Amino acid sequence: MEYPIIQAPMAGGASTPKLAATVSNAGGIGFLAAGYKTAGEMVSEIEETLRLTDRPFGVNVFVPSKEVVDEAVLLAYREKIQKEAQSVGVLIGQATTDDDDWDSKITALKELRVAIVSFTFGCPESRIIKELQEAGSLVAISVTNLDEAKIAVAAGADILCAQGIEAGGHRASFENQTEGDQGLIELIKMIKKESNVPMIAAGGLMEGKDITAVLAAGAVAAQLGTAFLRCPESGASPAHKAALHDSRFSKTAITRAFSGRRARGLVNRFLEEYDREAPNAYPHVHHMTKQMRKVAGQKEQPELMALWAGQGHRRSRELPASQLMEKLVEEMKSE
Ligand SMILES: Cc1cc2nc3c(=O)[nH]c(=O)nc-3n(C[C@H](O)[C@H](O)[C@H](O)COP(=O)(O)O)c2cc1C
Repeated sequence: MEYPIIQAPMAGGASTPKLAATVSNAGGIGFLAAGYKTAGEMVSEIEETLRLTDRPFGVNVFVPSKEVVDEAVLLAYREKIQKEAQSVGVLIGQATTDDDDWDSKITALKELRVAIVSFTFGCPESRIIKELQEAGSLVAISVTNLDEAKIAVAAGADILCAQGIEAGGHRASFENQTEGDQGLIELIKMIKKESNVPMIAAGGLMEGKDITAVLAAGAVAAQLGTAFLRCPESGASPAHKAALHDSRFSKTAITRAFSGRRARGLVNRFLEEYDREAPNAYPHVHHMTKQMRKVAGQKEQPELMALWAGQGHRRSRELPASQLMEKLVEEMKSE
């Protein structure tokens, strides 16, 4: 890795093989997002990325949720939001759960030996971390507070990915709870005080000077998600890309409205209307709303989409990923 810049894994289509390979070829580390995909789809993306770069890149996996859901609350929410799905011509999805093809993904990753495997939504058991390390991968665990960092270190993580409250997309927290969110700089310093495990910092980092700040606080690299969303190589939908610089969507908020798990996105009508009633039920709510969100994206109806974005989204730039990398490096040097 030439520069301490990591393109965040972004499930839902944004982090394509092309984006990941371009960032790795430019001297950073690109990431694929295995979340919501089958193991087979993940393997195809890894193979495609291997054709586009011989530099290291990472793959991110969701740790399955052990959520206990209140069925009555879940079904009441489903009833409430079904009219929104109907408004774009689809039926609201079933409130189902799944393990995101966990076992097959882990088996495949042990064979494919990508440079870094990162986990979010939990900490896998030590045995799995060790097996991936023995296969030749570094293992990173995303954490949002000190307690999670301690668990990840005890489980044998090579790297921590500290996610501050500023971050776009889902909170990486081990539990789907509200307590324990931290601003990024404080989070880095708190963890640094307790552990020497190298730390990647994520959350609201958009420009070179943001990267310099997290390195000064004690991180070894910066992970940027929203900053890469508007790149032509990003697979985010045109409506999502446009919303990031649309003055109608100037604020972000954390909500369970779209997936049942807390995530930061641009404030739109769906978020405002349903945030208060949305239950703690991931991935159930994700499955309920996914078809609605997909069709809303195709029909360019941003008010019904999950417009994941970090607090710094207004500073995002529409540049090819290689040029964005150059710009970030230039900005870091001029600090
Ligand atoms: C659209 C989107 C999708 C995301 N998907 C994932 C994911 O699949 N896995 C993951 O670990 N983090 C995911 N994240 C969170 C990022 O890893 C990272 O924490 C976040 O992007 C940092 O904040 P920033 O967006 O302000 O740069 C996602 C973020 C966004 C914006």
